Amino acid sequence: MRWTAEVLVFLDSRCELLVATHSPYAWKARMAKAMVRVWDAWLARHWGLPSAQIDEFAAAQAELVRPIEDDRNLPPTAAVPHDDFTPLARILLTERPQKVLELGTGHGNTTANICALVDAHVITVNALPHQMSGRVVTFALTQDDIGRVYRKHGYADRVTQIFESTIAFDPDGYLPRDSVDLAIIDACHDSSFVTNDFFKVLPSLRGNAVVLFHDTHPSMERHLAGSYRACMQLRACGFDIRHITGTWWGFWRKPREPRRRRWRASLLRIATRIILRLRFRPSVGSRRAQTIVS
Ligand SMILES: C[S@@+](CC[C@H](N)C(=O)[O-])C[C@H]1O[C@@H](n2cnc3c(N)ncnc32)[C@H](O)[C@@H]1O
Repeated sequence: MRWTAEVLVFLDSRCELLVATHSPYAWKARMAKAMVRVWDAWLARHWGLPSAQIDEFAAAQAELVRPIEDDRNLPPTAAVPHDDFTPLARILLTERPQKVLELGTGHGNTTANICALVDAHVITVNALPHQMSGRVVTFALTQDDIGRVYRKHGYADRVTQIFESTIAFDPDGYLPRDSVDLAIIDACHDSSFVTNDFFKVLPSLRGNAVVLFHDTHPSMERHLAGSYRACMQLRACGFDIRHITGTWWGFWRKPREPRRRRWRASLLRIATRIILRLRFRPSVGSRRAQTIVS
């Protein structure tokens, strides 16, 4: 599965490179764009995301609290009329996550709204300008501006802020395995970054956890192309990512491990612990040794 992803990401990065390379020859630029269109069409034909209504993923909420508005980046905004905030709020209120991992803090509006809606701890990652290397990065913010909204609203004690590119970020340093209930991928939108981010968060997700991909839409217009392309590649690798109708959200739920496999894993863990205890039992200074000496 990882190999399929790597081959697809390699081909994809060649396409991205072709588009990013400024050629003095117009025909070369046109050809590069045409190749990317062919690549996208081929992916969409085989692995386009099925659409699903938000009701399939979240319980109906009679009344939602009003969002914190400062520096809100999630639509609806003045420029983008559709609503991405309400589906996120409904998913949060249905899942009630304890631990949320957010890639792409921005000004921290979504972080603040998560803290306001549910009793979660949020681990959030944003690169400083000199750490960024992608193309579609939305903002290059200073350390003071990253996360300023959740700090202003008094949620700093429920947030772990990490200043790091998601390429260099190592979740093992911050999160035990199988601990995250909800991950939001909303950092650099180049497709190679989105697939990197997904595989980064995967080991830290518990069974039944949810991953949301923002700026993911089948129109693939402008900044919406990279994440949608990445999601198609991940579908090709067997991850059943779906697009939430009428939004810019991609949705994936990590399957629960079958009970049998969970049992086998816990038995194996217990057996290993017993063997290690027997094998490396301290002899000098142990109670038995002390008894003999006295
Ligand atoms: C779309 S904004 C995030 C918006 C935020 N989730 C919200 O709803 O308020 C994307 C953020 O990702 C950051 N970013 C871009 N490339 C990144 C990278 N490689 N690693 C980490 N963060 C990155 C940008 O600085 C920007 O603040």
